[in-house]
Amino acid sequence: MITFERVTKIYPGSDEPAIDNVSFEVPEGEICVVIGPSGCCKTTLMRMINRLIPITSGIISIKGQNVAKMDVIELRRGIGYAIQQIGLFPHMTVYDNIATVPRLLKWDKKRIAARVDELLSLAGLEPDIFRFRYPRELSGGQAQRIGVVRALATDPPVMLMDEPFGAIDPINREVLQDEFLKIQAKVKKTIIFVTHDIHEAIKMGDKIALLEAGRLVQYDTPENLLVHPKNRFVKDFVGADRALKRLDLLKVKDAMMQNPVHCHMDDDAEVIAKHMKENQLTFLLVTDQNEKLKGYVNFYELKDHLGKVRDLVKPMTITVKPEQNLKEALSKMLSYDIGIVVAVDDDSRLKGVLNTRTLLSVVGDTYDERGGVWGKITQQGSISS
Ligand SMILES: Nc1ncnc2c1ncn2[C@@H]1O[C@H](COP(=O)(O)OP(=O)(O)O)[C@@H](O)[C@H]1O
Ligand SMILES: [Mg+2]
Repeated sequence: MITFERVTKIYPGSDEPAIDNVSFEVPEGEICVVIGPSGCCKTTLMRMINRLIPITSGIISIKGQNVAKMDVIELRRGIGYAIQQIGLFPHMTVYDNIATVPRLLKWDKKRIAARVDELLSLAGLEPDIFRFRYPRELSGGQAQRIGVVRALATDPPVMLMDEPFGAIDPINREVLQDEFLKIQAKVKKTIIFVTHDIHEAIKMGDKIALLEAGRLVQYDTPENLLVHPKNRFVKDFVGADRALKRLDLLKVKDAMMQNPVHCHMDDDAEVIAKHMKENQLTFLLVTDQNEKLKGYVNFYELKDHLGKVRDLVKPMTITVKPEQNLKEALSKMLSYDIGIVVAVDDDSRLKGVLNTRTLLSVVGDTYDERGGVWGKITQQGSISS
């Protein structure tokens, strides 16, 4: 939906092209991260899209329309622009900042007020608290969020973001990235996102365009960039700790064993204990009839019990979600010193089990690209009668 065809930029007074014959296409609703070392012309490439920088040759088009031939006001109206310096107007309230472009477009007051509230909520900021604050009364993270939703004010189909979280400390940056991905899942904009941080690129990008000195070296999914770097430059750029980066990329559901062995609350303790003994299981997961995780039982407690499993079930407090990335899962397992963790969905339904060894084998050399089951967990399914 955004297409670059043999795009070249030569700055006046220079013989060398800054951008050299770059071609690629960003599909509608995707985030394309443009990355590369400082000075490789990421910002130049981005600013040619909304014509803040004139193109030398080649064509950039949005939905098949050559941007060079569009009315520049019309063009920029369809593009949200968010930059590192945030660019909130310091003498204007949050409300007036967000309302700037809608007012230029002569929206009526009611529509603007509703939109401001909607966007503040989208940014996770309570409208009644933040509407009339000034930028100096905001934290860096709050200001950055407002900068981003301000760019969404008139609901442009395209967003250009130039290192939007570059000035934020690492912890808050993670939070903003997560929030932005949630927003994007709802609004599905076509986004060019510039960064020099490979971590951020892997996390945010549906595709990554890696530039070296104004040339496009590789345009690929984050996964392919890590697993099949095209050349030495790409390999070095994505770094030696590729395995660790894959932890960021892969989800719990990619590594967990699905439908792990379990029993139900109303099963007879005696029957389940017998089964556990035969299969040398010391612990067993317990669900209710709707497969919602209730906890686990211990064989030694269960074996002499005349009654139901539910009498002896212990709650399981540490769980992960299938959609969480493996880095989060691993850090949870390390901080609670557990070698195995259960994955449940938002309704606490049992989805799988992850252990450290299978987790590490997924990111290490033994990873089987076709997916599959690792480790020694041999049993799957319910053992309830
Ligand atoms: N207006 C300009 N005139 C001449 N050279 C420029 C101009 N703007 C940027 N450059 C040069 O283009 C190169 C790339 O700049 P830029 O696109 O900002 O890189 P990046 O965003 O990747 O760090 C730099 O070497 C910079 O000096
Ligand atoms: Mg730049």
